[in-house]
Amino acid sequence: QSPEKEGHYLMARAKGRSPAASESGKAWGGRFRHKTNRLVESFTVSVAVDRRLYAHDIQGSIAHCKTLGKARVLTASETRTIVRGLESVKTELDRGRFRFIPQDEDIHMAIERRLTELIGPLGGKLHTGRSRNDQVALDIRLYLRDQLSQLLAHLENFQRVLVAKGKAHRTVAMPGYTHLQRAQPVLFAHHLLAYVEMIERDKGRFRDASVRLNVMPLGSGALAGTNYPVDRLFTAGLLGFPTVTQNSLDAVSDRDFMIEVASALSITMMHLSRLSEELILWSSQEFQFVELPDAFCTGSSMMPQKKNPDVPELVRGKTGRVYGHLVNLLTTLKALPLSYNRDLQEDKPALFDALDTVFASVEVLTELMRRLTVNRDVLKQAVQSGSMLATEVADYLVTRGVPFREAHAITGRLVRAALDQGRELTDFSLEELRTFSERIEKGLFLRLTVTAAIDQKSQIGGTARTRVEQRIKELERMLS
Ligand code: ARG
Repeated sequence: QSPEKEGHYLMARAKGRSPAASESGKAWGGRFRHKTNRLVESFTVSVAVDRRLYAHDIQGSIAHCKTLGKARVLTASETRTIVRGLESVKTELDRGRFRFIPQDEDIHMAIERRLTELIGPLGGKLHTGRSRNDQVALDIRLYLRDQLSQLLAHLENFQRVLVAKGKAHRTVAMPGYTHLQRAQPVLFAHHLLAYVEMIERDKGRFRDASVRLNVMPLGSGALAGTNYPVDRLFTAGLLGFPTVTQNSLDAVSDRDFMIEVASALSITMMHLSRLSEELILWSSQEFQFVELPDAFCTGSSMMPQKKNPDVPELVRGKTGRVYGHLVNLLTTLKALPLSYNRDLQEDKPALFDALDTVFASVEVLTELMRRLTVNRDVLKQAVQSGSMLATEVADYLVTRGVPFREAHAITGRLVRAALDQGRELTDFSLEELRTFSERIEKGLFLRLTVTAAIDQKSQIGGTARTRVEQRIKELERMLS
């Protein structure tokens, strides 16, 4: 607490403009005989965290003030003065000129305190018919609505980069894996587009959560509703909410929407973490499928040769943190009696950090992916080996009338022989192949190439080049 800051506050007090209503120096201090203990003050304060809600808090207060004006609880001139005062407070906050004082318990109290300093005791009328309980419920909804629309834009941008990267390498094949064992060839683009689909579902979850949280809680008061004839639908209209909450107890204690968002954020992090894991594997000396951009890697303080994939590692590492916030929120709510309890103040550090973590992770991975180099030669080599065309042989035998189970067994023997002799299936001559099954003709060779194997998978969702190209076009249209 700088003397300057204190001086500022004392001056306001001397002018009789302080909201301090009692010895406790608090706006709510009337019924208190003693000052709040210093430990309690620092234990309960939340302004460092909730100050980021200031713009939405003021937006909500302006709407509340206009609603009080419409209800004739405030005169037109009072309404104008308060709104102008709130706008000045916002300007101070926007410009970083707002001076917080130690008595500012949370952002709501800080703004009201400053409003009263600026416009005098009239500032004290703003909180008529409102509680911080419905106020904070409103603020978080307004804030989340904005954040989620920004997040959707970021996710779309990420999708665009993945689609563009896929498109740039649309004919490049790579080994597809199950159990992290080489399985069947797929297009590199197909693999990247898998993540685009995941992100598309993530976006759906955020949109869905946005719809459910888009309900206006103001007018619920502390818990029971309000004594004033406020037109709640009018407030909702001013703030762009299609509807209002229907139960005041629920409205001030509901944090479902935050849990939903934290859950959707966790799922998004899980997807980012899976991609990160693949980037870590693919960029290792063992795979060498891709090269991470230098600017997105770091070195070792001891081993000069090292280039470490710290960015994807940190995305993977931060995933647990977001899951933790989800569990934090669920646990905070689980045994909470109705309605508002101060426990709910713990919701914001969790939500904010989960949001910040996802924003940062999406942003950094987007730029990393934009600059990712694909080692086409390594992929080309990799896709030729590992008997990944064995399923093609079996399916060929099926077209020749061999039941699939038998075809599987014949091909298995062929693969065994290839392994024993250190050869690939594609190295065998027709004569040699026919020793495994008389049904094999030279037509098999037409199917026994990586390209043929890929293009054969031409049903919706398959890795055939035509399919993948079509999906790229669809996604480009969707994301434009
Ligand atoms: N800082 C509080 C929170 O974040 C605001 C509501 C406080 N309400 C109260 N009755 N103490 O939840």
